[in-house]
Formats: sequence, structure tokens, C-alpha cells
Amino acid sequence: MLQEGKIYIGTSRKPDDSINKGEYLELKFGNRHGLITGATGTGKTVTLQILAEGFSNAGVPVFCADVKGDLSGIGAMGEPKDFLLKRAEQIGLDPYDFQEFPVIFWDLYGEKGHRVRTTISEMGPLLLSRLMNATDAQEGVLNIAFKIADEGGLPLLDLKDLQALLNYMGENASELSNQFGFISKASVGSIQRELLILEQQGAEHFFGEPALKITDIMRTTNDGRGAISVLAADKLMMNPRLYATFLLWLLSELFEELPEVGDPDKPKLVFFFDEAHLLFNDAPKVLVERVEQVVRLIRSKGVGVYFVTQNPLDVPEAVLAQLGNRIQHALRAYSPREQKAVKTAADTFRPNPDFNCADVITNLGTGEALVSTLEGKGSPSIVERTLVRPPASRLGPLTDAERQKVVDVSPVRGLYDEDFDRDSAYEMLAKRAAKAAEQAEAARQAEEKPAEDTSGGSRWTLPGFGDDAAEAASGKQARPRSSGHKRETIMEAAMKSVARTVATQVGRALVRGILGSLKR
Ligand SMILES: Nc1ncnc2c1ncn2[C@@H]1O[C@H](COP(=O)(O)OP(=O)(O)OP(=O)(O)O)[C@@H](O)[C@H]1O
Ligand SMILES: [Mg+2]
Repeated sequence: MLQEGKIYIGTSRKPDDSINKGEYLELKFGNRHGLITGATGTGKTVTLQILAEGFSNAGVPVFCADVKGDLSGIGAMGEPKDFLLKRAEQIGLDPYDFQEFPVIFWDLYGEKGHRVRTTISEMGPLLLSRLMNATDAQEGVLNIAFKIADEGGLPLLDLKDLQALLNYMGENASELSNQFGFISKASVGSIQRELLILEQQGAEHFFGEPALKITDIMRTTNDGRGAISVLAADKLMMNPRLYATFLLWLLSELFEELPEVGDPDKPKLVFFFDEAHLLFNDAPKVLVERVEQVVRLIRSKGVGVYFVTQNPLDVPEAVLAQLGNRIQHALRAYSPREQKAVKTAADTFRPNPDFNCADVITNLGTGEALVSTLEGKGSPSIVERTLVRPPASRLGPLTDAERQKVVDVSPVRGLYDEDFDRDSAYEMLAKRAAKAAEQAEAARQAEEKPAEDTSGGSRWTLPGFGDDAAEAASGKQARPRSSGHKRETIMEAAMKSVARTVATQVGRALVRGILGSLKR
């Protein structure tokens, strides 16, 4: 059953129910992506579990989200329950060995695993707009905010930093509009309100430092197995946009950071996207196009992406077309939409003369699926009606105590568990700010001298700090603002330093990738 270079999925049956042959996923096609679909309770999560086990045993790290908490059992030894033993016997899996897998638990909220964070800067305007469900006008303003920050080299760490930048933009909207394009004060205000909502929904846990390093989800154990990163997503699912945006961000990070490897013997990482419909639900067209592009291109970085969802219609056609390895569990066919889903699912398979796909899909048992994977030179195998193997690890959740044990001995223990002291993040900004303040003061003093040499040209002209050319020319007193310098917060001061950098164009602009996260 266990063959080199392949993951055993299960055993197919002939129309008379006798055993046909083992069905496998070839590791060298593991980066050609996949799809697991089926109605609720038909066996999708178990299928995900056995694939994750297979990849891990082959030395391939796996990342998956645990939407219902029932995937955590992959970190514990399986138990010889009757129905599992029966399944093993039915498919001729002998010996049926139990095994526990090396898992790393992650949790945006830090309750059921190690904290995962990123910074606002790293997420970028496109995904942040998606997270906020921004209107076009709001997205325009966010783009400008990132332009100001990126060109000035200002790290936006968390939601508060972005709020501060937006404050600055609101206060100086008309002047900044000349330089960066129209900034509507109303949009700035509405974004700020949205950010507050996000904060209340717990998104503030997600933004900050230390940010997740993707190398930490690409670990292997000393005995050569791939670590399985399990993201606790039960609480996260209450904020589906945060869930979807987080996974997209991770995909985007992988894409931007990993080198090209062509088609490797086995994937560098496999990424399971459970509840994949959340990625695409009401997603703006441009985002869907970018996702499609990333999915297409990430293959040559050795990353396999597996979408898990109830209905194949949940995944846009352009993405669907790229998913080479398919496992279709049972679908119902009551409503017209369900019937359409059955037809779509059936039509995408390479037909098997022994049966009619559409008929079979509605009659599959639990833990049974139509399976077609890539073979030979990369063409889909003839679809087979397959009984999926039982997992080697535990089916069902870990107890809290078991989970804690895993967390306590985790290889990333201590790396992410504490927030970086906010002061240390601010320190960096403070340094910039102090320098900026110094320069501003020098400029102000120069200005106070009788107008002798104003032709220097290198002086910054971004508005709002009391010493820009426009205000000086209009005879406004710079003093009130200058005295305000003493009271300004570090962030405001940093903003000034950014303003200076942008205005003088000496900043090293940050470069963004397809999904808008930072390129390195
Ligand atoms: N390969 C299998 N071998 C043995 N039992 C299985 C197998 N697959 C599924 N089952 C049984 O079916 C149950 C439901 O499976 P699973 O949780 O994977 O469904 P699901 O499609 O993920 O459902 P949901 O959409 O509700 O998340 C399992 O708890 C298990 O009892
Ligand atoms: Mg499930």
C-alpha cells in the first residue's frame, strides 16, 4: 500500500464493490494543487488529515487551519476504534499503524497556540482593504496612506500606527491631495471608524510584532518529517474576513519570500485552505484575479495549495482549473444550485467508463470520494470511486491539557508568545523623530532670519507642521505649531520625519508584490 514517492489516499472499488486498486497522490505533483469538496459531514476533514499525515511523513511541512477544532487530534496517536479498524480491513490496509505527528499550534489570539502576527506594513493596502471591506474611495485613501508610509520608509506596525497616519492625512487632506491625489476627509473618517470596529473584533491581536517568519512554518523534525502547523480557527471564524485575509496574507508572504524551484520531487510546503469559499465570497474582482495569479505562480516555488470547501462552485473557475488533485466527497442534489454543483464536479473529472460520475457523487458514503490525481507526465488519472483510508493519528480533538503539552515543547516556543515591548517599536520611530525635529528646528530658525536665502530647495514642503513654505509665505506664524512640538507624540514626530523624507524623495521606497505584501 505504502509506495515510495506517493501518498496513499485510499482504495478504489469496482462497480461490484470488490477491491480495485490503491489510489495515490504523487509527491512530485503535490505542488500542482488540489481540491477537497463535499457536503457537510461527508469526510473532508478526515481526508485533509490523512493527506497532511502523508505529506508530513514524506518530509513536507504542512499548514492548515482547524476550523472546528477537530483537526488537532493529528498531534496524538490514533486509537483502534471499531469503525476505523473496519475501514482499514475493508480497504486492505495492513498493517494499520497508529502514529502521532509533529504539530505546531498557532492562534491569532494566542489562546490555543503560538501567536501569529504581521504588521500593517507587511499586509499592504490590497488585503487591508479586503479586511475592511473598503469602498473604492476608502481603498484610494488607504493606497495613499501606504504610499506615504512606504516612500518614507515608515513601518506601520499596528492599527494605532495606521490611525495616527490617517489623523495626519485628515488634518492635511487638501495639501496632501496636491501631492498624492485626492484624499477625501470623509473617507479618512470612515476608514478610521472601520479600524475601530476591526480593533473591537480582535484584529488588533493580529497586527504587531514579532511578525511570523515563514521559515517557522516550514520546519522539519530531526527524523525528517514535515511539521504540521495547525491554526486554531474556531474563534477566528467568527470574523470570516480576518480569517480569509490572514490566509491570503500568508500565501502572499510565501509567494514573495520563497525562491523559484521549478517542479521539485516533493513540495516545499503544502497549504490547506479550509472553508475556501470565504476567500472568494464577495471578493472584489481584482482580488480574485490576483489570487488566481498567485496560485498559478506559487507552484514553481514548490508550494501546493489545497482548497477545501463544500461546493466546487465556491471556487472561481480560473482557480478551479489549476487544481490538479481532486477528491470529491458526496454532494446533495436537491436545489438547482446543488444540481449544478454536482454537474460541475462530475464534468471536471476524466470519466470512468464503469460509472456515471454525477450519479455516484450523490450516492457516496461517508469517507468515500471520487478521486483523480495527476499521474504520468501530469495528466489527471481516470476518476475512481475510493474509500478513503482511516487516519493514523487521532480522529477528533486534543484535550486542552494535551494541546498545552504540545505547545510547551514546541520548536517555536518563546519566539512569538510575548508582544514586543511597544517601546522598542517606538524607539526606532523616536530616533527618526528626534532627528526630524532637529532638522525642522534648524529649518525654522533659518526661516526666522530675514528672508535671505530661501532658494535652497531641499526644504520639505509637506504641510501641517507649521514651518512649510506655504504658511511662511502667507505670513502665518510658525510659533504655535513649534511649541506644539514638545507635546507631539512620538508617532506624530515620526510622521513628520516621513513627510520630510517623502518630500525630499530620499526615502527608499518599499516594493509590493502581487497581493500587495512587501517584497524583500
Ligand atoms: N476516511 C474515513 N474513515 C473512517 N471514518 C471516516 C472517514 N472519513 C470520515 N469518517 C467519519 O465521518 C465523520 C465526519 O467526517 P469529517 O469530519 O471529515 O466531515 P466533514 O466533511 O469535514 O464535515 P464538515 O463539513 O461538517 O466539517 C468523521 O468523524 C468519521 O466518523
Ligand atoms: Mg470538516
